[in-house]
Amino acid sequence: MKVSIIGGGGLVGSCAAFALQTGGVVREIALIDVSAELAEGQALDLLHGSAFAGDQVIASGGFEHIESSDLVCITAGLRRKPDESRLDLINRNVDLFLGILSEMTTAGLRKDALVLVVSNPVDVLTYLAATRLGLPASQVIGLGTQLDSLRFRSLIARELKVPPTQVSAVILGEHGDSMVPIWSSATVAGLPIEKYPGFGPNVANELFARTRGSGAEVIKKKGGAGFAVGLAIQEVIESIALDRRRILPVSTLQDGCYGLRDVAISVPTVVGRKGAIATHEIDLWPKEVQGLRKSGQVLRETIDAVVKRVGKT
Ligand code: 2OP
Repeated sequence: MKVSIIGGGGLVGSCAAFALQTGGVVREIALIDVSAELAEGQALDLLHGSAFAGDQVIASGGFEHIESSDLVCITAGLRRKPDESRLDLINRNVDLFLGILSEMTTAGLRKDALVLVVSNPVDVLTYLAATRLGLPASQVIGLGTQLDSLRFRSLIARELKVPPTQVSAVILGEHGDSMVPIWSSATVAGLPIEKYPGFGPNVANELFARTRGSGAEVIKKKGGAGFAVGLAIQEVIESIALDRRRILPVSTLQDGCYGLRDVAISVPTVVGRKGAIATHEIDLWPKEVQGLRKSGQVLRETIDAVVKRVGKT
């Protein structure tokens, strides 16, 4: 499978490329960036390690890579300032993103290609891609709360002093301030988290607050996320490449799951070679469903404002 990463010269795109290289699953990784020199430098740096990492094609260049791409990952965008919410980014990034969508279409994006949106505000941009690229909505996936869920599990593990890979927990909703922690299904080594030594309501609130603030915290400390978001992207792309059909909290255009409609938002989604194969509306606590619907409303209001400014299609 060939993956092209638009914004591949930047921190998120290059970390995603490195994660895909170490995963060894995709066959070809092409880095596309407005700074050709930067994309070339990142690709060269990756290539230098390929004799150990694996037998993949590492390339860089422009939109000429699009028509031969099986999946296009869009990470390009202006970064949020530490005190800026993701939605505040919206006008600056929407215009840039619409330009990228247009260039992808002109460059011959294949009708069977998949698109993974990472740029922020990811849910709004995923909605625009799903409604404007002319692909089936199932072929357009936003990273959504996949990264938040990874952070959530990792922070829980550190707090409870347990192996991170044995923490199962998920964040759903907006990749943003209205995201929803799903404590009802959280477990440690398959055991209910609320019974776990060291866990309690205050710890739960602190862990969720830390998770929700993690994006801004990393931006403040090092300018932006790279390693974790690269791994979050790797899990989604490898579930596609190997048709793993993992159930992931990614953002897609909803048509009724948890009562969410005509908005791109993260719900439990089966991710396989054809993209978002299905969603699972699993029973949650009433307050979790309410939080999801509120998150959907926040996004719907934002999408309406964006569509009012840029037009329906
Ligand atoms: C984050 O939460 C990049 O929005 C992403 O760090």
